[in-house]
Amino acid sequence: MKDSFEINKNIWTNIYKARQNNLAYPNENLVRYLFYLYPDKNFSELKVLDYGFGSGSNLRHLDALGCDVYGVEICEYAKQLTLEKLRDGFDADKLFIMDQEVNLPYEKKKFDLVIAWQVLYYNSIESLAKVLYSIKSILKPEGKFIGTMARKEDISITNSKPRNKYERVSNEVLGNQAGSRLIAVSSEDDIKKLFNMFSALQIGYFESNLNNIVCSHWIIYGENENE
Ligand SMILES: C[S@@+](CC[C@H](N)C(=O)[O-])C[C@H]1O[C@@H](n2cnc3c(N)ncnc32)[C@H](O)[C@@H]1O
Repeated sequence: MKDSFEINKNIWTNIYKARQNNLAYPNENLVRYLFYLYPDKNFSELKVLDYGFGSGSNLRHLDALGCDVYGVEICEYAKQLTLEKLRDGFDADKLFIMDQEVNLPYEKKKFDLVIAWQVLYYNSIESLAKVLYSIKSILKPEGKFIGTMARKEDISITNSKPRNKYERVSNEVLGNQAGSRLIAVSSEDDIKKLFNMFSALQIGYFESNLNNIVCSHWIIYGENENE
């Protein structure tokens, strides 16, 4: 039986192979949040990991800001789309394709910032915790984490059915994502529990509704405590 990782990898591979979800612009909430997090705009001092970089629009933004940026994904086609967007001279080896959910190939305490934008909820509930601990381990002391998780109002959740207590399966309305496995977390308390490996937790959300297409995500900020 295929596990969530393999199912989602096949679905996202088909999406990127068809050059769908090839986003031109970074997520505006991420753009704003980065400026809020780094008021001194010292981006050129930051080593950043974009976990689940997708078609690369956020990663390109981080690179353009001057960050030393790395990325992990599960789809080779996503890497292709991303490299097409990046400036000549960007080192393609900094984009790593994982062959299993929790396989971050970095030494401990390497990064100042890890971003996981609209991606963590494609893990199974078991792998999510492992991934989060793994992300924490590669953050420098006082390194920062920002990520999102789909809220129950999000189109990906409203167009899915439950599989077990946390996990859901996308239905046909979602077209190219039908059958994908995802996690829905409805309460802020549950988010706090899931992300309790980070200190200084802050939880907010962003939401848009364009022609009844609702995008609604928790934003989770946390730090690796000073050791
Ligand atoms: C909605 S897209 C978001 C992409 C990108 N972060 C962005 O904001 O544009 C979700 C991404 O998660 C990736 N993904 C799915 N399951 C994953 C997993 N277990 N680990 C890492 N990435 C995964 C998919 O390949 C896809 O690129």
